[in-house]
Amino acid sequence: MKNWTRILLVLTIVMLVLSVGTFAATKKIVVGYAQIGAESEWRTANTRSVQQAAIDADIQLLFVDAQQKQENQIKALRTFIAKKVDVIFLAPVVESGWGPVLREVKQAKIPLVLVDRNVDEKDSSLWVSHMGADFVKEGNKAAKWLGDYLKAQKIDDGKNQINIVELQGTVGSAPAIDRKKGFEDVMKAEHSNWKITRSQTGNFTRAEGKAVMEAFLKADKDIQVLYAHNDDMALGAIQAIEEAGIQPGKDIVVLSIDAVKGAFQAMIDGKLNCTVECSPLLGPQMMQAAEDIVAKKKLPREIWTIEGVFDMTVAAKEFPNRQY
Ligand code: AHR
Repeated sequence: MKNWTRILLVLTIVMLVLSVGTFAATKKIVVGYAQIGAESEWRTANTRSVQQAAIDADIQLLFVDAQQKQENQIKALRTFIAKKVDVIFLAPVVESGWGPVLREVKQAKIPLVLVDRNVDEKDSSLWVSHMGADFVKEGNKAAKWLGDYLKAQKIDDGKNQINIVELQGTVGSAPAIDRKKGFEDVMKAEHSNWKITRSQTGNFTRAEGKAVMEAFLKADKDIQVLYAHNDDMALGAIQAIEEAGIQPGKDIVVLSIDAVKGAFQAMIDGKLNCTVECSPLLGPQMMQAAEDIVAKKKLPREIWTIEGVFDMTVAAKEFPNRQY
Protein backbone atom coordinates (compact mmCIF):
# COMPACT_ATOMS: atom_id res chain seq x y z
CA MET A 1 0.00 0.00 0.00
CA LYS A 2 1.39 3.38 -0.96
CA ASN A 3 2.04 5.97 1.74
CA TRP A 4 -0.68 8.37 0.65
CA THR A 5 -3.30 5.54 0.55
CA ARG A 6 -2.25 4.54 4.05
CA ILE A 7 -2.69 8.14 5.28
CA LEU A 8 -6.09 8.35 3.61
CA LEU A 9 -7.20 5.12 5.23
CA VAL A 10 -6.07 6.25 8.72
CA LEU A 11 -7.83 9.60 8.23
CA THR A 12 -11.07 7.87 7.18
CA ILE A 13 -10.96 5.59 10.24
CA VAL A 14 -10.30 8.58 12.56
CA MET A 15 -13.24 10.49 11.05
CA LEU A 16 -15.48 7.47 11.38
CA VAL A 17 -14.57 6.98 15.06
CA LEU A 18 -15.11 10.69 15.72
CA SER A 19 -18.53 10.75 14.05
CA VAL A 20 -19.68 7.64 15.97
CA GLY A 21 -18.51 9.33 19.20
CA THR A 22 -20.40 12.54 18.41
CA PHE A 23 -23.52 10.55 17.54
CA ALA A 24 -23.33 8.70 20.87
CA ALA A 25 -22.87 11.96 22.77
CA THR A 26 -25.90 13.63 21.13
CA LYS A 27 -28.17 10.58 21.02
CA LYS A 28 -31.70 11.69 21.84
CA ILE A 29 -33.00 10.55 25.22
CA VAL A 30 -36.05 8.28 24.89
CA VAL A 31 -38.51 7.98 27.77
CA GLY A 32 -41.73 6.03 28.19
CA TYR A 33 -44.69 7.34 30.20
CA ALA A 34 -47.43 4.91 31.28
CA GLN A 35 -50.18 7.44 32.01
CA ILE A 36 -53.34 6.43 33.88
CA GLY A 37 -55.91 7.79 31.44
CA ALA A 38 -57.92 10.96 30.81
CA GLU A 39 -60.40 10.68 33.67
CA SER A 40 -60.18 14.25 34.94
CA GLU A 41 -59.19 17.84 34.12
CA TRP A 42 -56.16 17.19 36.33
CA ARG A 43 -55.08 14.18 34.27
CA THR A 44 -55.38 15.93 30.89
CA ALA A 45 -53.39 18.88 32.28
CA ASN A 46 -50.72 16.41 33.43
CA THR A 47 -50.54 14.82 29.97
CA ARG A 48 -50.24 18.24 28.31
CA SER A 49 -47.51 19.26 30.72
CA VAL A 50 -45.46 16.11 30.04
CA GLN A 51 -45.89 16.27 26.25
CA GLN A 52 -44.89 19.95 26.13
CA ALA A 53 -41.92 19.45 28.45
CA ALA A 54 -40.63 16.59 26.27
CA ILE A 55 -40.77 18.84 23.19
CA ASP A 56 -39.03 21.67 25.06
CA ALA A 57 -36.27 19.34 26.31
CA ASP A 58 -35.90 17.61 22.91
CA ILE A 59 -36.63 14.25 24.51
CA GLN A 60 -38.49 11.51 22.62
CA LEU A 61 -41.61 10.57 24.58
CA LEU A 62 -43.38 7.25 24.13
CA PHE A 63 -46.78 7.95 25.66
CA VAL A 64 -49.43 5.38 26.60
CA ASP A 65 -52.93 6.27 27.84
CA ALA A 66 -53.90 3.18 29.88
CA GLN A 67 -57.60 4.10 30.14
CA GLN A 68 -57.55 3.63 33.93
CA LYS A 69 -56.60 -0.06 33.61
CA GLN A 70 -53.61 -1.52 35.44
CA GLU A 71 -53.27 -4.31 32.84
CA ASN A 72 -52.74 -1.68 30.12
CA GLN A 73 -50.06 0.02 32.21
CA ILE A 74 -48.29 -3.33 32.73
CA LYS A 75 -48.40 -3.93 28.95
CA ALA A 76 -46.98 -0.45 28.37
CA LEU A 77 -44.06 -1.13 30.73
CA ARG A 78 -43.25 -4.33 28.83
CA THR A 79 -43.33 -2.44 25.52
CA PHE A 80 -40.95 0.17 26.97
CA ILE A 81 -38.59 -2.63 28.05
CA ALA A 82 -38.68 -4.13 24.54
CA LYS A 83 -37.94 -0.71 23.05
CA LYS A 84 -35.01 -0.25 25.47
CA VAL A 85 -36.04 3.27 26.51
CA ASP A 86 -33.63 5.24 28.71
CA VAL A 87 -36.09 5.99 31.53
CA ILE A 88 -39.61 4.78 32.37
CA PHE A 89 -42.17 6.99 34.10
CA LEU A 90 -45.18 5.31 35.70
CA ALA A 91 -48.26 6.95 37.25
CA PRO A 92 -49.68 3.83 38.91
CA VAL A 93 -53.48 3.69 38.77
CA VAL A 94 -53.63 1.59 41.97
CA GLU A 95 -51.08 0.92 44.70
CA SER A 96 -50.82 -2.88 44.67
CA GLY A 97 -49.87 -5.57 42.13
CA TRP A 98 -46.74 -3.98 40.67
CA GLY A 99 -43.99 -6.29 42.02
CA PRO A 100 -43.50 -8.68 39.07
CA VAL A 101 -43.44 -6.07 36.29
CA LEU A 102 -41.26 -3.68 38.28
CA ARG A 103 -38.79 -6.51 38.77
CA GLU A 104 -38.77 -7.05 34.98
CA VAL A 105 -37.95 -3.36 34.53
CA LYS A 106 -35.14 -3.60 37.08
CA GLN A 107 -33.74 -6.72 35.40
CA ALA A 108 -33.70 -4.83 32.11
CA LYS A 109 -31.63 -2.15 33.94
CA ILE A 110 -34.03 0.64 33.02
CA PRO A 111 -34.44 3.28 35.74
CA LEU A 112 -38.09 3.82 36.69
CA VAL A 113 -39.58 6.94 38.27
CA LEU A 114 -42.99 6.92 39.93
CA VAL A 115 -45.02 9.96 38.99
CA ASP A 116 -48.00 11.43 40.87
CA ARG A 117 -49.10 8.25 42.72
CA ASN A 118 -47.14 5.79 44.82
CA VAL A 119 -47.06 1.97 44.89
CA ASP A 120 -47.39 -0.35 47.85
CA GLU A 121 -44.25 -2.47 47.36
CA LYS A 122 -41.73 -3.39 50.06
CA ASP A 123 -38.72 -3.42 47.73
CA SER A 124 -38.11 0.28 47.18
CA SER A 125 -35.07 -0.48 44.98
CA LEU A 126 -37.58 -1.10 42.16
CA TRP A 127 -37.85 2.64 41.48
CA VAL A 128 -35.28 5.42 41.68
CA SER A 129 -37.57 8.22 42.79
CA HIS A 130 -41.18 9.29 43.33
CA MET A 131 -42.38 12.76 42.41
CA GLY A 132 -45.77 14.17 43.23
CA ALA A 133 -48.00 15.42 46.02
CA ASP A 134 -48.39 14.32 49.62
CA PHE A 135 -52.01 13.10 49.45
CA VAL A 136 -52.34 12.61 53.22
CA LYS A 137 -51.43 16.26 53.73
CA GLU A 138 -54.05 17.25 51.15
CA GLY A 139 -56.71 15.41 53.19
CA ASN A 140 -55.41 17.12 56.36
CA LYS A 141 -55.65 20.54 54.69
CA ALA A 142 -59.21 19.89 53.49
CA ALA A 143 -60.38 18.95 57.01
CA LYS A 144 -58.52 21.88 58.62
CA TRP A 145 -60.10 24.34 56.19
CA LEU A 146 -63.53 22.82 56.81
CA GLY A 147 -63.13 23.07 60.61
CA ASP A 148 -62.30 26.78 60.40
CA TYR A 149 -65.07 27.49 57.88
CA LEU A 150 -67.87 25.68 59.72
CA LYS A 151 -66.90 27.47 62.92
CA ALA A 152 -66.68 30.91 61.26
CA GLN A 153 -70.08 30.39 59.58
CA LYS A 154 -71.56 29.17 62.89
CA ILE A 155 -72.62 25.93 61.17
CA ASP A 156 -70.68 23.82 63.67
CA ASP A 157 -71.04 24.46 67.41
CA GLY A 158 -68.82 21.49 68.24
CA LYS A 159 -71.79 19.57 69.71
CA ASN A 160 -74.41 18.90 67.05
CA GLN A 161 -73.59 16.22 64.53
CA ILE A 162 -72.19 17.38 61.16
CA ASN A 163 -73.10 14.89 58.43
CA ILE A 164 -70.46 14.54 55.76
CA VAL A 165 -70.74 12.54 52.55
CA GLU A 166 -67.55 11.50 50.81
CA LEU A 167 -66.85 10.83 47.14
CA GLN A 168 -63.76 8.66 47.03
CA GLY A 169 -61.31 8.38 44.14
CA THR A 170 -60.50 5.13 42.34
CA VAL A 171 -60.62 2.17 44.73
CA GLY A 172 -57.11 1.09 45.75
CA SER A 173 -55.42 4.21 44.37
CA ALA A 174 -52.94 6.15 46.51
CA PRO A 175 -54.88 9.46 46.43
CA ALA A 176 -58.16 7.76 47.41
CA ILE A 177 -56.54 5.92 50.33
CA ASP A 178 -54.43 8.86 51.53
CA ARG A 179 -56.96 11.66 51.09
CA LYS A 180 -59.47 9.64 53.10
CA LYS A 181 -56.90 8.99 55.82
CA GLY A 182 -55.68 12.60 55.92
CA PHE A 183 -59.22 13.91 56.33
CA GLU A 184 -60.22 11.32 58.92
CA ASP A 185 -57.06 11.86 61.01
CA VAL A 186 -57.99 15.51 61.59
CA MET A 187 -61.66 14.62 62.04
CA LYS A 188 -60.88 12.03 64.74
CA ALA A 189 -58.38 14.27 66.52
CA GLU A 190 -60.38 17.50 66.51
CA HIS A 191 -64.06 16.99 65.58
CA SER A 192 -65.78 14.21 67.48
CA ASN A 193 -69.18 15.51 66.28
CA TRP A 194 -68.37 15.05 62.57
CA LYS A 195 -69.64 11.89 60.96
CA ILE A 196 -69.03 10.49 57.47
CA THR A 197 -72.54 9.22 56.84
CA ARG A 198 -71.96 7.94 53.31
CA SER A 199 -68.79 7.19 51.37
CA GLN A 200 -68.49 5.69 47.91
CA THR A 201 -66.17 5.80 44.94
CA GLY A 202 -66.85 8.09 42.01
CA ASN A 203 -63.66 6.88 40.27
CA PHE A 204 -62.34 10.45 39.94
CA THR A 205 -64.80 11.17 37.08
CA ARG A 206 -67.51 13.81 36.73
CA ALA A 207 -70.15 11.34 35.50
CA GLU A 208 -69.67 8.91 38.38
CA GLY A 209 -69.45 11.76 40.91
CA LYS A 210 -72.86 12.94 39.72
CA ALA A 211 -74.44 9.47 39.77
CA VAL A 212 -73.19 8.68 43.28
CA MET A 213 -74.33 12.05 44.64
CA GLU A 214 -77.78 11.48 43.15
CA ALA A 215 -77.94 8.17 45.02
CA PHE A 216 -76.75 9.82 48.27
CA LEU A 217 -79.46 12.48 47.99
CA LYS A 218 -82.17 9.94 47.21
CA ALA A 219 -81.26 8.00 50.34
CA ASP A 220 -80.94 10.97 52.70
CA LYS A 221 -81.07 14.77 52.42
CA ASP A 222 -79.64 15.51 55.87
CA ILE A 223 -76.19 16.39 54.53
CA GLN A 224 -74.16 19.39 55.63
CA VAL A 225 -70.89 18.71 53.79
CA LEU A 226 -69.65 17.00 50.64
CA TYR A 227 -65.97 16.07 50.62
CA ALA A 228 -64.85 14.92 47.15
CA HIS A 229 -61.38 13.48 46.52
CA ASN A 230 -61.11 15.52 43.31
CA ASP A 231 -62.70 18.51 41.58
CA ASP A 232 -64.25 16.55 38.72
CA MET A 233 -66.36 14.43 41.08
CA ALA A 234 -67.33 17.58 43.02
CA LEU A 235 -68.40 19.29 39.80
CA GLY A 236 -70.54 16.30 38.83
CA ALA A 237 -72.03 16.19 42.34
CA ILE A 238 -72.81 19.93 42.20
CA GLN A 239 -75.02 19.22 39.18
CA ALA A 240 -76.82 16.47 41.11
CA ILE A 241 -77.33 18.76 44.12
CA GLU A 242 -78.80 21.51 41.92
CA GLU A 243 -81.08 19.06 40.15
CA ALA A 244 -82.36 18.00 43.57
CA GLY A 245 -83.36 21.64 44.22
CA ILE A 246 -80.63 22.21 46.83
CA GLN A 247 -78.02 24.99 46.66
CA PRO A 248 -74.43 23.68 46.54
CA GLY A 249 -72.01 25.97 48.36
CA LYS A 250 -74.79 27.19 50.66
CA ASP A 251 -77.12 24.38 51.78
CA ILE A 252 -74.32 21.87 51.40
CA VAL A 253 -70.70 22.94 51.88
CA VAL A 254 -68.65 21.46 49.01
CA LEU A 255 -64.92 20.95 49.17
CA SER A 256 -62.57 19.04 46.94
CA ILE A 257 -58.99 18.60 45.78
CA ASP A 258 -56.97 19.55 42.63
CA ALA A 259 -57.66 23.28 42.06
CA VAL A 260 -58.39 22.98 38.33
CA LYS A 261 -59.89 25.93 36.44
CA GLY A 262 -63.36 24.34 36.48
CA ALA A 263 -63.25 24.39 40.29
CA PHE A 264 -62.30 28.07 40.33
CA GLN A 265 -65.25 28.86 38.05
CA ALA A 266 -67.55 26.92 40.40
CA MET A 267 -66.20 28.89 43.37
CA ILE A 268 -66.73 32.18 41.50
CA ASP A 269 -70.32 31.00 40.82
CA GLY A 270 -70.75 30.31 44.55
CA LYS A 271 -71.26 26.54 44.13
CA LEU A 272 -67.96 25.15 45.45
CA ASN A 273 -66.53 26.37 48.74
CA CYS A 274 -62.92 25.26 48.66
CA THR A 275 -60.35 23.30 46.67
CA VAL A 276 -56.99 22.04 47.90
CA GLU A 277 -54.28 22.30 45.27
CA CYS A 278 -52.65 19.21 43.72
CA SER A 279 -50.41 20.25 40.85
CA PRO A 280 -50.38 18.16 37.65
CA LEU A 281 -47.62 20.28 36.10
CA LEU A 282 -44.93 17.66 36.57
CA GLY A 283 -43.60 17.60 32.99
CA PRO A 284 -40.54 19.87 33.40
CA GLN A 285 -39.50 18.02 36.60
CA MET A 286 -39.85 14.67 34.81
CA MET A 287 -37.72 15.70 31.84
CA GLN A 288 -35.09 17.15 34.19
CA ALA A 289 -35.08 13.82 36.04
CA ALA A 290 -34.60 11.92 32.76
CA GLU A 291 -31.62 14.11 31.85
CA ASP A 292 -30.14 13.69 35.34
CA ILE A 293 -30.56 9.91 35.26
CA VAL A 294 -28.91 9.64 31.84
CA ALA A 295 -26.08 11.86 33.14
CA LYS A 296 -25.75 9.38 36.06
CA LYS A 297 -26.74 11.99 38.67
CA LYS A 298 -28.43 10.74 41.83
CA LEU A 299 -32.06 11.81 42.28
CA PRO A 300 -33.73 12.43 45.67
CA ARG A 301 -35.96 9.47 46.66
CA GLU A 302 -38.96 11.80 47.06
CA ILE A 303 -39.63 15.00 45.14
CA TRP A 304 -42.70 16.68 46.68
CA THR A 305 -44.75 19.36 44.96
CA ILE A 306 -45.68 22.45 46.98
CA GLU A 307 -49.37 23.24 47.02
CA GLY A 308 -51.88 25.74 48.42
CA VAL A 309 -55.52 25.93 49.47
CA PHE A 310 -58.03 28.18 47.66
CA ASP A 311 -61.55 29.10 48.70
CA MET A 312 -64.38 31.29 47.40
CA THR A 313 -62.88 34.43 48.94
CA VAL A 314 -59.82 34.33 46.66
CA ALA A 315 -61.21 32.49 43.60
CA ALA A 316 -61.85 35.50 41.32
CA LYS A 317 -58.45 37.05 42.09
CA GLU A 318 -56.57 33.76 41.56
CA PHE A 319 -58.45 32.59 38.45
CA PRO A 320 -56.33 34.49 35.88
CA ASN A 321 -53.14 32.97 37.36
CA ARG A 322 -54.26 29.38 37.03
CA GLN A 323 -52.35 27.34 34.46
CA TYR A 324 -54.57 24.27 34.44
O1 AHR B 1 -53.50 11.19 41.32
C1 AHR B 1 -54.01 12.48 41.26
C2 AHR B 1 -55.48 12.42 41.05
O2 AHR B 1 -55.78 11.72 39.87
C3 AHR B 1 -56.18 13.74 40.89
O3 AHR B 1 -56.58 14.32 42.06
C4 AHR B 1 -57.37 13.32 40.10
O4 AHR B 1 -58.11 14.38 39.61
C5 AHR B 1 -56.72 12.46 39.11
O5 AHR B 1 -57.53 11.75 38.29
